[in-house]
Amino acid sequence: MFKFASLLALVSLVPAVVNAAQPLYAQCGGIGWTGDTTCVSGATCTKLNDYYSQCLPGSSTPPTTTTTPTTTPTTTNTGGPTGTPAAGNPYTGYQIYLTPYYADEVQTAAGLITDATQKAKALKVAQIPTFTWFDVIAKVPTLGTYLADASAKGKASGQKYLVQIVVYDLPDRDCAALASNGEFSIANDGLNKYKGYIDQLVAQIKQYPDVRVVAVIEPDSLANLVTNLNVAKCANAQSAYKAGVTYAMQQLNSVGVYMYLDAGHAGWLGWPANLSPAAQLFIQLYKDAGSPQFVRGLATNVANYNALSASSPDPITQGNPNYDEIHYINALAPSLTSGGFPAHFIVDQGRSGVQNIRQQWGDWCNVNGAGFGTRPTLSTGSSLIDAIVWVKPGGECDGTSNTSSPRYDAHCGLSDAMPNAPEAGTWFQAYFAALVKNANPAL
Ligand code: BGC
Repeated sequence: MFKFASLLALVSLVPAVVNAAQPLYAQCGGIGWTGDTTCVSGATCTKLNDYYSQCLPGSSTPPTTTTTPTTTPTTTNTGGPTGTPAAGNPYTGYQIYLTPYYADEVQTAAGLITDATQKAKALKVAQIPTFTWFDVIAKVPTLGTYLADASAKGKASGQKYLVQIVVYDLPDRDCAALASNGEFSIANDGLNKYKGYIDQLVAQIKQYPDVRVVAVIEPDSLANLVTNLNVAKCANAQSAYKAGVTYAMQQLNSVGVYMYLDAGHAGWLGWPANLSPAAQLFIQLYKDAGSPQFVRGLATNVANYNALSASSPDPITQGNPNYDEIHYINALAPSLTSGGFPAHFIVDQGRSGVQNIRQQWGDWCNVNGAGFGTRPTLSTGSSLIDAIVWVKPGGECDGTSNTSSPRYDAHCGLSDAMPNAPEAGTWFQAYFAALVKNANPAL
């Protein structure tokens, strides 16, 4: 609900703007909302949760049936969306699509930065490919608009396009924390609702066989099952998480989505005692799902701050030999391979530009001093790593620091977390400005 709060506070000084319909992606409703509830032409005010409705492209009604593909699958596209996956790195030869959602957030944010040098740097972020999170079912129809756009751009330019998404809507989501608790609950038929969410993603993807889709599957979920079964909500969620991730793998496989299951990070599953249980869980689920061919491997460091390769261990890593992502990946890969799981990785470096900024390795919420990190690249320095990517859209919040919010998590109130933080996933202007300023390499 706080996404454009600061912008709206400014525009409220200008009555002519306040009375206009809300622009694409702006807030248009929710508990406490007093602004306009209509959207510009081509967008519909869509309820994402009780606190936040947003102007999203097109109709707010999610598709209930699979529509007829507008494009006929080609038989010459050997790496195409159905059938057999392309050999090797799925990123090779593809142009990564820049999602308008994030570009729009960044452009709006840059507009609020007064310093001309910082503003110019901020605007560059809009050109850096970042994953788009489908964190509520209401956002799924927008995937169709991105795929259609990527398809059109591909046809116009002769290049092949790839869209990066995060599948993130498991029931009882974020079971060991509070900040990102989701919309579905296991007690209220959440697993079936989750399957409906996956079906809707599949229905969209199926229509654009010329566009390649790469997905990170359910950040934190399986890692929580490795280390947090002592938390009642995680123990209770275990079977639903497994069933949900299995369903996601199978259905997304059927439309040729290249998948990386989320594997936490070095400071979580990278502890020596956690490596083998983690590998066993990934192997088991993958096999139970029928070894889906489009599962390419694992994603690490999603929304975290670890370096891919640290010049020296951060003192908070407390003697873990796997003190950065490359050590973690090198340590995990052999057991995956021996269990028949494809040991390929993508690594989030979006907010890893500055190291040694945390008080504890487990601090994950809006960590002060962070900067944008290594740009997305296929030059990873490791044959195990397909790509360095930006998964967490830098500037979107990790969690609220408002202690009275139902989604307040104490990590977001720690002294190394930036204060005055809005709800998870909504725009955090001060944090974005800091990421720009601290970017390494500089923007
Ligand atoms: C939030 C999601 C958001 C994602 C990316 C998560 O922490 O819970 O709502 O989409 O971050 O910003």
